[in-house]
Amino acid sequence: MLIKKELAAKMIEQVGNEFAASSQYLAIAIYFEKEAFGNTSKFFYKQAEEEKEHAMKLLKYVVETGGDAPIPAIPAPKAVIKSAEDAFVTSLNWEMEVTGQINGLMDLAKQQNDYLAQKFLDWFVEEQLEEVTTMEKFLLIVRKLGEKNIYMLESIIAHAE
Ligand SMILES: [Fe+2]
Ligand SMILES: [Fe+2]
Repeated sequence: MLIKKELAAKMIEQVGNEFAASSQYLAIAIYFEKEAFGNTSKFFYKQAEEEKEHAMKLLKYVVETGGDAPIPAIPAPKAVIKSAEDAFVTSLNWEMEVTGQINGLMDLAKQQNDYLAQKFLDWFVEEQLEEVTTMEKFLLIVRKLGEKNIYMLESIIAHAE
């Protein structure tokens, strides 16, 4: 097999983390839907889909390279979202955490001189730049709007996509 046991195990752990991120974004999408923020809700449903795709991408890589791929348990997301600001803080924290996890995978791939894995992981490294900057940008906007003007987020997010 092309992939080493330790890297396969770490990648499978990341499959769980990506599914967990997907669940968290679903919980946030539901929060916004209930608050009648249709566009913001749509944005988070889309994020949830993307995280699922990340999980599948990792899973397929492990399987294709001959590693063991037991599907891990997915922890429940933070269910109570208190505000739009809370939603974006939660999202940004998630993306920062995932960035660290991806860097950890890359570190291991480098230690093992696994060039194929490094090439594969490059996509995730770049993806995190986009994910973190997007959440940072929207958190800044939410804070600028404040509670009184928060509904303007709906038109901003609709035009940002
Ligand atoms: Fe992701
Ligand atoms: Fe993400």
